[in-house]
Amino acid sequence: MEIAKGVYWVGVVDWGLRHFHGHELSTHRGSTYNAYLIIDEKIVLVDTVWNPFQDQLLRNISAVIDPSKIDLVVANHSESDHSGSLPAVMRRIPNATVVVSKRGEESVEGHYHQAWNFKSVKTGDRISIGENELVFIEAPMLHWPDSMFTYLAGRNILMPNDAFGQHYATSFRFNDQVHREELYEEAIKYYANILTPFSALVLKKIDEVLALGLPVDMIAPSHGVIWRRDPLQIVTKYREWASQVPEKSAVVAYDTMWEGTRRMAEAVGNGMAAEGIPCKIFHMAVSDRNDVITEIFKSRAVVIGSPTLNQGLLPTIAPILEDIRGLRFQNKIGAAFGTYGWSGESVKLIEEHLTRCKIPVVCPGVRAKWQPKPADLENCEKMGREIAAAVKST
Ligand code: FEO
Repeated sequence: MEIAKGVYWVGVVDWGLRHFHGHELSTHRGSTYNAYLIIDEKIVLVDTVWNPFQDQLLRNISAVIDPSKIDLVVANHSESDHSGSLPAVMRRIPNATVVVSKRGEESVEGHYHQAWNFKSVKTGDRISIGENELVFIEAPMLHWPDSMFTYLAGRNILMPNDAFGQHYATSFRFNDQVHREELYEEAIKYYANILTPFSALVLKKIDEVLALGLPVDMIAPSHGVIWRRDPLQIVTKYREWASQVPEKSAVVAYDTMWEGTRRMAEAVGNGMAAEGIPCKIFHMAVSDRNDVITEIFKSRAVVIGSPTLNQGLLPTIAPILEDIRGLRFQNKIGAAFGTYGWSGESVKLIEEHLTRCKIPVVCPGVRAKWQPKPADLENCEKMGREIAAAVKST
């Protein structure tokens, strides 16, 4: 499909995808792997697709031009969803040049163990391909060390690979053709779950790219739709998300064995609602972890509840705590609660974890022995009100 004069989308829509990065990330709306073919004096392929779809990529290229005519393959990023079909492509064009960032040379070679004809580029390097020119911008840790943006001067198209992407399978290729709310739900989920820890770098990179003064008619990421109408809207959103200024809201994430900790969670939520602070309550044993992460990303307060089991937490709570650690959220406050029968370590363990994650614990944890008594639930409501006050005050 021609997206601009001489520029073709040759990617794949993966409607069936429900988990990504193995099973680490949920993708309720599927995804796309976007690859772009540029027809100029030189023929350029920017990125490939995940290898289960390599035949489809080659068919899509063949519908435009004989794949053996490709001169340059740009591998903006070596993760398998974009580089997975490189071996199949390179079997057709063994002498073609593979353009990578300096770190990309090592990681592409590390994935495929092939001595392809690599050309490594750095920020500001240009390759003339005829009427148009490729301009490269390194974007290390957005989100891998090798990540790179390619800008097609002449057509004013920025191809930033994962940045500005969404796991969103659609019938159409452009942002102005899809449901705006769905698009932004997927864009923020992508940011929250993948890019949050690199937010400071996102802000720096946005400033750096804008300072180049390159005209941008399209932002064509490697997942989801292409930003064609008002393309810089997603850059503005990324700036907002990267600054991590939360909404005045809260998330309560808990698990429960015999409903005691659930009742405490709801009492905490009631306390917050009484103070006018919206709170979303998630039972982690049956909730999608990545969706909960997105809600935590948006919220000021994160409150975790678990009964004590084997002197620790319910195992279903561990993954969300690990994400909270790894994603390095900024500007959060926290608290903990839970039931116990005898040893009762869970609340302390959660508080210690939040503190290690630099999330200040803003009120004393509430523990309830066996099933919570009315006084325990009152303490939970009080905790909810205190957290709400802390949310409102900042
Ligand atoms: Fe980092 Fe879409 O791969």
